[in-house]
Amino acid sequence: MKTIIEPFRIKSVEPLRHTTREERERYLQAAGYNLFLIQARNILIDLLTDSGTSAMSTEQWAALMRGDESYAGSESFFRLQRVVSDLTAFRHIIPAHQGRAAERILFTVVCKPGQVVPSNTHFDTTRANIEFTGAKAVDLPIPEAGDTQARLDFKGNMDVDALRALIAKEGAANIPLAMLTVTNNSGGGQPVSLENIAAVKSVCAEHGIPFYLDACRFAENAWFIREREPGYADWSPKQIAQKMFSFADGCTFSAKKDAFANIGGLLCTNDDRVAQLETNLLILTEGFPTYGGLAGRDLEAIAVGLEEILDPDYLRYRIISTGYLGRHIADHGVPIVEPPGGHAIYIDAARMLPHIPAAQFPGQALAVELYRHAGIRSVEIGSVMFGAAARHELLRLAIPRRVYTQSHIDYVVEAILEVNVRKQEIRGMEIVEAPPFLRHFSARFRPL
Ligand code: F0G
Repeated sequence: MKTIIEPFRIKSVEPLRHTTREERERYLQAAGYNLFLIQARNILIDLLTDSGTSAMSTEQWAALMRGDESYAGSESFFRLQRVVSDLTAFRHIIPAHQGRAAERILFTVVCKPGQVVPSNTHFDTTRANIEFTGAKAVDLPIPEAGDTQARLDFKGNMDVDALRALIAKEGAANIPLAMLTVTNNSGGGQPVSLENIAAVKSVCAEHGIPFYLDACRFAENAWFIREREPGYADWSPKQIAQKMFSFADGCTFSAKKDAFANIGGLLCTNDDRVAQLETNLLILTEGFPTYGGLAGRDLEAIAVGLEEILDPDYLRYRIISTGYLGRHIADHGVPIVEPPGGHAIYIDAARMLPHIPAAQFPGQALAVELYRHAGIRSVEIGSVMFGAAARHELLRLAIPRRVYTQSHIDYVVEAILEVNVRKQEIRGMEIVEAPPFLRHFSARFRPL
């Protein structure tokens, strides 16, 4: 059969609420044209993020009832520990309430002011948590990643020569760890090859630098390896994921992505001393090490989700359905970051709207127009989010897991193509009010 179907059926539904264009115009004005400030009930299709927005399965809901809410020694923790240990083989598995909590604890423990932490591309919370300690976050993507139109199998890879050069310049003692984000979210949801993971590990090992994965979307990355990297076509996604983790000395993980959970995170390491320091800090702010800021039932949902996510039928559907959105808009002239990523499609707004300069936020202008036209929420990833450090002006359409059907996506395609037809009419935006930090969450804009 050629038709790819959603590999699930729907047992519980959540109604969507239509609004009129006039209503949306009012909501936009009240929100200062910032989609973070629009109430979710006024959104028809929400592609703001794939994080914490998954639909849980019947098995996950059933597991919630099994949640052991004991303060210490919860059975739910040991169940999660068995699953994570089987997948990653890390010695220490520390739960946290979400990915950034794990990042904060890790970097507080390992970073000193003036040090440098390289990555293929740091996610924004990772960068912020590194820089909050006084260390510097450095992105070393492969040069081809700078070209949104280049079609590479593993466009999320790190530039290994640049890593060597950085170590030579800074000195290994000044690099507390190196990281690879799989898949590379800020770089377009692009995968990292096992070859690149092995090469980065080997350079790190040569210099005694610990190597970590930001493993948020490890399963989607594993599927891309199975499909694209020679030698892995017969491997199960789980075997590939195990191999990915086998190179790492530790990881941070947001269970809000590739664990189908609505909340949760993990911090893992093989280093006993680091684990001890992390656990001390965890107790201060997250909780006892067998719950780490989560309810026992959350630990259960993550344990079940981590097994479900590695189902080949699910991953095949996931990657093909994301690509479906990408191809259907790109083949009709909407420039996207090529090739389509795992969890999201990124429109190259600067290329689509060349009449709007970066200083007038083409990604934001496009996000506003897509909401105004069709009630779809997306997110700008460009000069609003990163200020002067922005490398591209992108609009991200992130796809929640197991939530929307193909007809929802067909609606999104239709809306984008309609907006594309009259793109000349889209005007830029200016910021009228903004805090100095994290301005994309609360800045207010005015259309020009
Ligand atoms: N690392 C990556 C690669 C991420 O994409 C995220 C979150 C985090 C770390 C932090 O995890 O949200 O659980 O604290 N990304 C979300 C997004 C917010 O929309 O891409 P968290």
